[in-house]
Amino acid sequence: MTEDDAPRFDFPGAFDLSGEVAVVTGGSRGIGRAIAHGLAAAGAAVAPVSRTAADVERVASELSEYDVGTCVATADVADEADVVDCLDTVADELGRPSVVVNNAGINPEVALGTPDRVSADDFDTVNDVNLRGAYACAHAAADHLEATEGSLVNVASVGGVVGLPRQHPYVASKHGLVGLTKSLALDWAPSVRANCLAPGYVATDLTEDLTGNEELAASIRERTPLDRFADPEEVAAPTVFLASDAASYLTGATLAVDGGWTAR
Ligand SMILES: NC(=O)c1ccc[n+]([C@@H]2O[C@H](COP(=O)([O-])OP(=O)(O)OC[C@H]3O[C@@H](n4cnc5c(N)ncnc54)[C@H](O)[C@@H]3O)[C@@H](O)[C@H]2O)c1
Repeated sequence: MTEDDAPRFDFPGAFDLSGEVAVVTGGSRGIGRAIAHGLAAAGAAVAPVSRTAADVERVASELSEYDVGTCVATADVADEADVVDCLDTVADELGRPSVVVNNAGINPEVALGTPDRVSADDFDTVNDVNLRGAYACAHAAADHLEATEGSLVNVASVGGVVGLPRQHPYVASKHGLVGLTKSLALDWAPSVRANCLAPGYVATDLTEDLTGNEELAASIRERTPLDRFADPEEVAAPTVFLASDAASYLTGATLAVDGGWTAR
């Protein structure tokens, strides 16, 4: 090997997202808020999207510390017209989105239980947000991503790669999201990359029933090789990686961010 063909790295430049325009659904709190901060810290202009303008305004104002662009765009991802309007707003205010993070997700109490208890309507409620909502965003963003040679990151779950008892709607939606990501990766290659994250247990509002129950929390920690819940920032950092040039040969992949939970 000569010096000329020696491998070359541009670190940390390969992680730099300056010039990118990112949309993060469910960006008002928890993992999505941390992802919005992470992408902004890496230099992207970021629209933290959620349903309530006041919540979005709060996160948008937090992002001013990074000296990047931001805007207040709202959407209920279960409402396709809302999603289209939202992406138009972002494109008008910040430029064409080049990074789209489908993070909005729910797992409501009514959808937890054995199939005799959870109705098909409750199944739909979860899937309308977690899966159909992600597809609506991908569909509405497709032209922007194509034009910018951008990247999509879907936030699935360990429930997207293994079954979990009494969470059928959630698990079906997250398995669907993993499959959707693979198909998008095929149809969008080579110009647009699409990848998935599969977080384990992360301390957020979504898991407060677990973190607030010492017995349940202990059993989750015991099942998790790293012996703790993740902080939202620990899901945000791999999102920055997947959106960046450092992940230039990753597409259609599902990255477990689960403290080793699925390694068992
Ligand atoms: N917390 C965990 O342990 C964990 C583990 C694996 C995967 N996840 C996934 O990570 C994502 C974020 O989870 P979180 O723990 O931060 O949850 P969270 O409940 O703290 O936040 C969810 C966010 O999504 C938004 N949202 C909900 N429904 C929406 C809709 N219809 N339209 C637009 N926005 C909507 C909420 O306003 C909020 O901003 C979800 O997709 C979740 O399934 C979470």
